[in-house]
Amino acid sequence: MQIIESPADLQLAALALRSAGETIALVPTMGNLHEGHLSLVRTARAMATRVIVSDFVNPTQFGPNEDYAAYPRTFEADCALLEREGADIVFHPSPEAMYPDGTSVSLIETSLSKHLCGASRPGHFNGVCTVVAKLFLLAQPHIAVFGQKDAQQLRVLRRMVRDLNFPIQVVGAPIVREPDGLAMSSRNQYLTPAQRLEAPALHRALEACSTAFASGERSVAALRKRILGILSASAPSGVPDYVTLADDETLVPLDDADTVSRPVLAALAVRFGTTRLIDNTELRP
Ligand code: PAJ
Repeated sequence: MQIIESPADLQLAALALRSAGETIALVPTMGNLHEGHLSLVRTARAMATRVIVSDFVNPTQFGPNEDYAAYPRTFEADCALLEREGADIVFHPSPEAMYPDGTSVSLIETSLSKHLCGASRPGHFNGVCTVVAKLFLLAQPHIAVFGQKDAQQLRVLRRMVRDLNFPIQVVGAPIVREPDGLAMSSRNQYLTPAQRLEAPALHRALEACSTAFASGERSVAALRKRILGILSASAPSGVPDYVTLADDETLVPLDDADTVSRPVLAALAVRFGTTRLIDNTELRP
């Protein structure tokens, strides 16, 4: 497994692989890898002859009061895991190499990112689009794998690929969970033991919503009420940031007076102290 720090070196390596007829799958990450990330690497492995994993905590997607400085950086451990998974190249640039002094051009997404997480994280998805576009140009992938855990991110990036004509197949991979249902996340380790006990309620609330939907409930108000009821009963110290049923493609939130008649993303974000957890499920009529 090759570790590459220089953006120019990665681009040369990727172009050489492409000319040699290899297919490249890219898995962008911010490191501190867990089973959720590794499942993406396995998907990438199965779909391409070469796998490139980026391990880069991207400063431009963090807000001024977010956890950029504190974000866990565990590069050595990440490399050991990636080696075991058969990754071919790990890209680990410095922030200065990715954003040289005087950087003045970036991407802006103007629609999907207004809703859900974007509402409380202004600029976040612009930072994500910019770094992922750069990673696409550097790693030259045929395929890029992202987790459904970050459902809004996946949809924003699919839109970016469509709108900017990147010749890349975006693959969405299922959410990997802890045995008690909590979606794996690098931020779970910030939870206190008491918060950790409450956190699986996010998944249970979404499951209750899915069960009600499967039994024919179509009222947005009733489905949201299911979710909010379980959150307030089982995660009393969690403060919901949003509990939203949104159009699965545009992410425009449905109104409580609406009924579900097309594919919907049921998504939520809950704050436990300063730790913000997200989860989601798809509802398909
Ligand atoms: P990060 O949070 O490290 O996540 C990297 C990838 O792993 C994302 O596609 C995310 O959806 C996926 N992932 C995280 N937890 C998962 C889980 N429990 N199950 C399945 N997939 C999971 O998302 C980012 O980094 C960044 O925004 C990035 C795309 C790398 C741009 O900087």
